[in-house]
Amino acid sequence: MNKPIIEKIKKLKKERNAVILVHNYQLPEVQDIADYIGDSLGLSIQASKTEADVIIFCGVYFMAETAKILSPDKIVLIPDKTAGCPMADMITKEKLVELKKTNPDAKVVAYVNTTAEVKTECDICCTSSNAELVVKNFTKDIEKLIFIPDKYLGSYIANKLGKEFILYDGYCPSHVKIMEEDIKREKEKHPEAKILVHPECISEVIKLADAVLSTDGMVKYAKNSNAKEFIIGTEIGIIHRLQKENPDKKFYPASNLAICPNMKKITLEKVYWSLEEMKYEVILNKETIEKARNPIEKMISLVK
Ligand code: 13P
Ligand code: SF4
Repeated sequence: MNKPIIEKIKKLKKERNAVILVHNYQLPEVQDIADYIGDSLGLSIQASKTEADVIIFCGVYFMAETAKILSPDKIVLIPDKTAGCPMADMITKEKLVELKKTNPDAKVVAYVNTTAEVKTECDICCTSSNAELVVKNFTKDIEKLIFIPDKYLGSYIANKLGKEFILYDGYCPSHVKIMEEDIKREKEKHPEAKILVHPECISEVIKLADAVLSTDGMVKYAKNSNAKEFIIGTEIGIIHRLQKENPDKKFYPASNLAICPNMKKITLEKVYWSLEEMKYEVILNKETIEKARNPIEKMISLVK
């Protein structure tokens, strides 16, 4: 444990009236200084109700943007501004506008893993924890739906609801590294283990799962389950939290290749510098904030 820097972070945090929000994939030492740790939905909700003046967002850029959209009067800082999400960057506003032009009667559901710019062109957002519920409610009176950008999450929900969506060809480069063989190999080694996978995984992996869950969904499942062993099909950073909160249970990563390099860019030093120098501030123009807030708020109101 890096005690001196943790003490400095705590002191500065108080002086700045800051809150530290941390995603489940962050480095263990960053997870351990969190005021709140969670998945995309949990972090968005937390950002929308914090009383702090400053939000230090330890996650990837679209998540920090979501915090800014929901708390426009607060200062939102990301300790490394290059921490992007390659899946979110696979679709641009221009590409979405084109897709809408070729499908003028379709509505757009955006996975929250999209940029603020892209969200300005969407009807509703969803996260991995509420995608099924959001899409189910939203599509009650809708015939045609474009789902962006994750084709795996999109096809998983479409299959569950027995619907057909227009899918965009996006995916998470970290989750697609988890293969069917990885799950089978781990299951052979740990036959009693429950298989938990993230919906960003490929369909062949999803088919083998006992449960398909968001990162917070996995944390809840592991806590409430009688099982003692779990094979975890998502980014390996979550193993730290799972193990810490369930010391009597065992967690096996489905694949050690499932690493999100962008999530690992944030270190304790960078959190400290972020607080000290008040950088890097997430800046969005007023119009983008207003337009991008609609689909996020629509999602939050649907799942409240
Ligand atoms: P969660 O919302 O499940 O934490 O997922 C976010 C993410 O980026 C998964 O790769
Ligand atoms: Fe984006 Fe994948 Fe990293 Fe999640 S794990 S932030 S989807 S690249």
